[in-house]
Amino acid sequence: MIVRVFAIVNQKGGCGKTTTAINLAAVAANRGVRTLLIDMDPQSHCAAGLGVPEERIDMSVGDALVADHASLDVTSLLWQVSRNLDLAPSTMMLTALEAPGGGLHSMPDRDRRLESLLGVMNGRFDYCFIDCPPNIGLLTFNALRAATEAIVPVETGYFSLRGARRQRKTIAALIARVGRRIPCHILPSLHRPSPLARTLLQRLHESFGDEVAPVIIREHETLREAVSFGQPVIEFAPGSEAERDFEHLADWLEEIGRPSQPIVHVESRGTQGRAAEIARRMEQFSVQSPERPDRSVIARIEPEQERDDRHP
Ligand SMILES: Nc1ncnc2c1ncn2[C@@H]1O[C@H](COP(=O)(O)OP(=O)(O)OP(=O)(O)O)[C@@H](O)[C@H]1O
Ligand SMILES: [Mg+2]
Repeated sequence: MIVRVFAIVNQKGGCGKTTTAINLAAVAANRGVRTLLIDMDPQSHCAAGLGVPEERIDMSVGDALVADHASLDVTSLLWQVSRNLDLAPSTMMLTALEAPGGGLHSMPDRDRRLESLLGVMNGRFDYCFIDCPPNIGLLTFNALRAATEAIVPVETGYFSLRGARRQRKTIAALIARVGRRIPCHILPSLHRPSPLARTLLQRLHESFGDEVAPVIIREHETLREAVSFGQPVIEFAPGSEAERDFEHLADWLEEIGRPSQPIVHVESRGTQGRAAEIARRMEQFSVQSPERPDRSVIARIEPEQERDDRHP
């Protein structure tokens, strides 16, 4: 199984979906995570942004979606972009495929084709990022069906709270149709620090609470330049502020994806002996978080007296 599948989704155009998909995927891959980037947008911006020449794409996501998955050779779909990063590129033909009467539309399992395609790639990848088109159709629905989480970039620069609410509501309606819980992470993007943008950011937090990622992707000219050179920013400008934003985002996603640590009780009859030693060591790792009590590791050295009282 691919452990985490992120659909990067928002029907609003130009809010930073592709930029997030490309750069987050590249940062994850650089950390040694086997990463797949799937372009579900007929505009095929992922290929351009990663320097994959469109004329050399033999098989695209569109072909693969409608292919017989039992006999599909996925190696003809995947482009190795860098160590640990593969791209499943798209082409314009995805538009026709999605349209009523198109190949995808006429399939009985039309909204599960991407999920099925990911099944063919079992064991190859740890993370998958899906770049969605700026509309709500069969392609976006396929992405959400296949996803374990959704990332919703919301521009703070041209942001209106009403717009963001509408965007979130539409995605919530789609997730409801999927019929399974899909955590949604709202990602403030294209953020240019200004009093207005800061106010809007604050409103975003007030409206959506914990759904808003505690990370901001600021507006960086470097990101625009990187795209025109066909490189993720981690390659184009390593160490830049732009890269740092995506590193922080990757850190946070790793953090929330970490399985809860078990609560371990180590008790000791006193301050001496093996059990006391283990408890002392564990205390060093003890995390006491009121918000996440499930994450705490509790080590306890019981005073000899107390214990003797309870077990006379
Ligand atoms: N943080 C940023 N800083 C500077 N430029 C950015 C940033 N994010 C995106 N851009 C630029 O804004 C434009 C739109 O970004 P992007 O293509 O990522 O949005 P999108 O949501 O994928 O658009 P679409 O809906 O058309 O697919 C691009 O030119 C991109 O280079
Ligand atoms: Mg895009």
